[in-house]
Amino acid sequence: MGYREIHRESIEAPERFWRREAEKLDWFEPPQEILSQDEKGFYRWFKGGKLNISHLALDYHCDNGRADQTAVIYDSPVTDTQQKFTYSELRDRVARAAGALRELGVEKGDRVVIYMPMIPEALEAMLACARLGAIHSVVFGGFSPNELAIRIDDAKPKAIITASCGVEFTRVIPYLPLVDEALKRSQHPPEKTLVVQREQEKAELKPGRDHDWDELCSRVSPADPVPVDATDPLYVLYTSGTTGKPKGVVRDTGGYATALNFSMETIYDLHPGEVFWTASDVGWVVGHSYIVYAPLIRGCTTIVYEGKPVRTPDAGAFWRVISEHQVKTFFTAPTAFRAVKKEDPEAKLMANYDISCLKKLFVAGERLDPPTYEWLTQILDVPVIDHWWQTETGWPIVANPTGVELFPVKSGSASLPVPGYNVMVLDDSGQPLPAGEQGNLVVKLPLPPGCLPTLWGDDERFRRSYLERFPGYYDTSDGGYIDDEGYVFIMGRVDDVINVAGHRLSTGEMEEVIGSHSAIAECAVVGIHDEMKGELPVGFVVLKDGVEVDEAELEKDLVQLIRNEIGAIACLKQVAVVQKLPKTRSGKILRKTIRQLAKEDDVPVPSTIDDPTSLEEIGRAMEVRGIGRHTG
Ligand code: COA
Ligand code: AMP
Repeated sequence: MGYREIHRESIEAPERFWRREAEKLDWFEPPQEILSQDEKGFYRWFKGGKLNISHLALDYHCDNGRADQTAVIYDSPVTDTQQKFTYSELRDRVARAAGALRELGVEKGDRVVIYMPMIPEALEAMLACARLGAIHSVVFGGFSPNELAIRIDDAKPKAIITASCGVEFTRVIPYLPLVDEALKRSQHPPEKTLVVQREQEKAELKPGRDHDWDELCSRVSPADPVPVDATDPLYVLYTSGTTGKPKGVVRDTGGYATALNFSMETIYDLHPGEVFWTASDVGWVVGHSYIVYAPLIRGCTTIVYEGKPVRTPDAGAFWRVISEHQVKTFFTAPTAFRAVKKEDPEAKLMANYDISCLKKLFVAGERLDPPTYEWLTQILDVPVIDHWWQTETGWPIVANPTGVELFPVKSGSASLPVPGYNVMVLDDSGQPLPAGEQGNLVVKLPLPPGCLPTLWGDDERFRRSYLERFPGYYDTSDGGYIDDEGYVFIMGRVDDVINVAGHRLSTGEMEEVIGSHSAIAECAVVGIHDEMKGELPVGFVVLKDGVEVDEAELEKDLVQLIRNEIGAIACLKQVAVVQKLPKTRSGKILRKTIRQLAKEDDVPVPSTIDDPTSLEEIGRAMEVRGIGRHTG
């Protein structure tokens, strides 16, 4: 069958379609219902089925001829380390880690927070939780203790798994003090911590609370996979929403396993035994799905890369790893290639490596901008595939289905709706728009397997955030259009979520943090285009009456405040003081107009504006501070 027939069947007969896909997995008990609705009216996939994803990813392959195949390659230029683990070695390590968690009292349904750098133990920790039926919640290592504490308080974990340190380029970052700080700030601190002691810097363990990973794993007995329901949560992954509180995206087990396996075949065209490398971090959804679960469920070899695209040691890092480990399919974020292009514009370093093993390059996390696409197609002989997805969906919504047929790539488009997703464009009143017209990108319900069934502990927020605005559809919060050949063009978020170097961040959260400073009366943070990182947050603040400050000092304080409260990855560098923020007469800050002003000269003054001089002042501040189009 060609793509169009497959897609049609997935929409017209979803139960038949996904039953067939689910049957490709080794269930302990097959599902009783393929698609159903729970008591809250939310769609659920594969009710009644029993499985364990650590069994699918490890034991199944060990029992079916892959025990001696490499499952994981750890490549760490920052510590000058390389290690390989076969499927049977990985299974044994995960079984012991699960035994260690069990020893700490972790049981099916308990949450475990994982705060770790890119080391094999991070992946083992996730699989160990899955083995017990415990629900992991991985927090990206670049987030501050405050962010970690917020997630701990929401997930209420039984234990935290961490490492003694991470390594950023050449800087060693001790992790345990960050965890200590988070536990101090938290209302629900777990009692147990499991710590991987690394050579680069060992942590001082607190007796009773902290347990040494190696020591505990060596003395416990291995744990077998615990059967869980298909609808049981595998993990909760927090992502930025429009307000300060992150959203805990819940992932189920059966739908996710089925969808990931399907995606490996249909989108990525990967077969058992082949090497798939995703250069991301296990703290992001891309890492969950395509560093850990999908490659292992598919019986591929995955790579845990602890390094950067550049300066570890140079901009040839990607080409080295591809050639050294015979990577067939590579996946990363466009921003990573912009970093490479900046340092090695002609990709001269590529000549040092034979990368003929590479057959396809996939990018996601942000729009593949046409200049980066052109550059990639000039330096590489392989298809360069943009694909669009979100933490919420867990796997791609729009992609080029290269495992079925490779469609011609259109620059600026992520190609076609993936089977299972009925993607449409609606105007603000919910009416479908014709081809070529830009509006709100939505997916007609039900979402396919693998996508979020709800938000952790907050069904109402789930309903409000995704289902309420357009009844019968999932609201992606991205805007875009579909052309007359069905290609989807994603034009960016329609809410206050921004994308900085492939990292999803909330400007609303930054505003809350800045607003907590004693000198600030009110503020607006907007995402402004940046050559390298896609977008960068910029703040505009109004001081409280009578407050006098040195503006440079205030900026320094606010930048530091954001680093402390959110993390260095927020990348807030510029804050300008203004007398007034542009607002509508009803008091709504005109953030979109501020964003436009950073891009264009002639921005129409909205008719609803309260005081047009406020906009002129923002324009002047941008000019003086070199913000947006005034950069450089
Ligand atoms: N732990 C601690 N700090 C971290 C961190 C981590 N895991 N990740 C990033 N940071 C810090 C950086 O050290 C930097 O700190 P600094 O301001 O003190 O220098 C800050 O956060 C900003 O990081 P980043 O925006 O990542 O910039 P960078 O210059 O370090 O790296 C790229 C730029 C493009 C190489 C990097 O952002 C990248 O690889 N991005 C791809 C993102 C990705 O994979 N997204 C997933 C979707 S596929
Ligand atoms: P995250 O949840 O961190 O994966 O971020 C999801 C958001 O990133 C989406 O809502 C989009 O705004 C953006 N995004 C991800 N992939 C793409 C893409 N290929 N093209 C355009 N935007 C993308």
